[in-house]
Amino acid sequence: MKPLAFYVDSPFYFEQFEKADFILREFPDGESYLKINADVKNREIFIFNSLNNPNQKILPLLFLVKYLKEQGTKHITLASPYLPYMRQDKIFNPGEVLSSKYFAELLSDHIDKLITVDPHLHRYKNLSEIYRCENKVLHATNEIADYIKHNIKNPIIIGPDAESEQWAKEIADDVGAPYVIAQKKRMNDYEVDMLIPGIEKFKKNTPVLIDDIISTAQTMIKAVSALRILGFAPPVCIGVHAVFAGDAYENLVAAGPEKIITCNTIKHSSNQIDLSDLLASAF
Ligand code: R5P
Repeated sequence: MKPLAFYVDSPFYFEQFEKADFILREFPDGESYLKINADVKNREIFIFNSLNNPNQKILPLLFLVKYLKEQGTKHITLASPYLPYMRQDKIFNPGEVLSSKYFAELLSDHIDKLITVDPHLHRYKNLSEIYRCENKVLHATNEIADYIKHNIKNPIIIGPDAESEQWAKEIADDVGAPYVIAQKKRMNDYEVDMLIPGIEKFKKNTPVLIDDIISTAQTMIKAVSALRILGFAPPVCIGVHAVFAGDAYENLVAAGPEKIITCNTIKHSSNQIDLSDLLASAF
């Protein structure tokens, strides 16, 4: 029997699963209503639910998983191509809550396996440091490198901060392009300073900014304007996860990049790099 797939909020669809029939909707007061129209007993389950806007999505997800467990499902895999709550990976100031760890514990208590793409691993070196459930981490670096090879001539890859070196270097090596890493200082959610040392000698290249998450887009916006001040052509901005909080996308467009390209871990009009095959490689 094919595993049963619940597509909760997913740009993906896979032939190898049977699609589960269910209703998830909100009551007028914001509470969630869930109805599962499938026999789930002894079934292997895949839930496709990218957890951007996690506070809204986590409760219906937990209701679904609790129901499935109660009905005697065999194994539950959550495929959340974007994994939230990874950036509070340290107690920066006394009294702060280490939400990355608590969120990981909450999910690990309820699912058997997690599949995700490029989680923000900075101070944690791997997901198992906080996720107790089995987990599989996928990387979009090959797909991003392929996009660059086919669409951008003579690129210079720019990682906007120290954390980004892990993927900027790998993508640059794959493409056969040079790379530089910017120095970013974040003052608060919306204030970011950026310097791009060593970039001047690449004036003839097409600048390509690559980051994992685009949230407020301030990181990308500051990089776009630093390049403009230095007299570069407008850059191509590539992000894995199109979080785009509030007006972030419009603000980034207004900053004047050549293009904004994202992977489809979160549904967004900028999705141009399809990760279906990458995700399917984990099943
Ligand atoms: C930070 O460490 C991440 O890699 C991203 O650079 C960051 O999340 C981007 O955030 P924002 O779009 O809000 O500047």
